[in-house]
Amino acid sequence: MPNQNKPKPYEPAEPSLLAAEAPSALFPIASEATPASTLSEVRDEIGDCRRCKLCSTRKNIVFGTGNPHAALMFVGEAPGADEDAQGQPFVGRAGQLLTKMIEAMGLSRETVYIANIIKCRPPENRNPQPDEIAACSPFLLKQIEAIRPKVICALGTFSAQTLLETQQKISALRGKFHDYHGVKLLPTFHPAYLLRNPNEKKTVWEDLKKIMEELKKG
Ligand code: URA
Repeated sequence: MPNQNKPKPYEPAEPSLLAAEAPSALFPIASEATPASTLSEVRDEIGDCRRCKLCSTRKNIVFGTGNPHAALMFVGEAPGADEDAQGQPFVGRAGQLLTKMIEAMGLSRETVYIANIIKCRPPENRNPQPDEIAACSPFLLKQIEAIRPKVICALGTFSAQTLLETQQKISALRGKFHDYHGVKLLPTFHPAYLLRNPNEKKTVWEDLKKIMEELKKG
């Protein structure tokens, strides 16, 4: 990440930054009639998932990792080879860059939550297909309900377009807050794109600073 314009890291231990405090009334996905499941209940419901064809090629289901009460959640596309092997999201080269981005924000992988639109690796890292997204996305929604983050950062075109149900380009979507079921969602470029286009790191840093400002509002 570039050093210039790097604000003083604010206190990452401040509880309001680490755990979302939005009252459930402000979070319209779950209701009092159908309260949100906990993350472990969502994981149990997924089980040894056979709901789509990716189950026949995956090694591991990549559920997501981090703070179950995170104020900030990152959502990527799908596990790659490293993630499939380890069962953890964003642990390959793009993941190492994501970790640096999170740390530059004064946070850590343990204080945020990281997940993907789909939980099993598509063969040859092809794009996830509509039936796979349809089978898997209800579980991401349940994870978001359980975590109730203040801000979701959608990483890359696929995540942003899927969550916002739009075909607009990432260049048009990024850097602005959008509404996702009552949660502020800010798309930015995917770390894998940044590995190929390092000159865009400064753009992403501007986006991350907007998220930091939003989190500071408490
Ligand atoms: N790219 C993603 O979108 N997700 C991962 O978990 C790893 C790479």
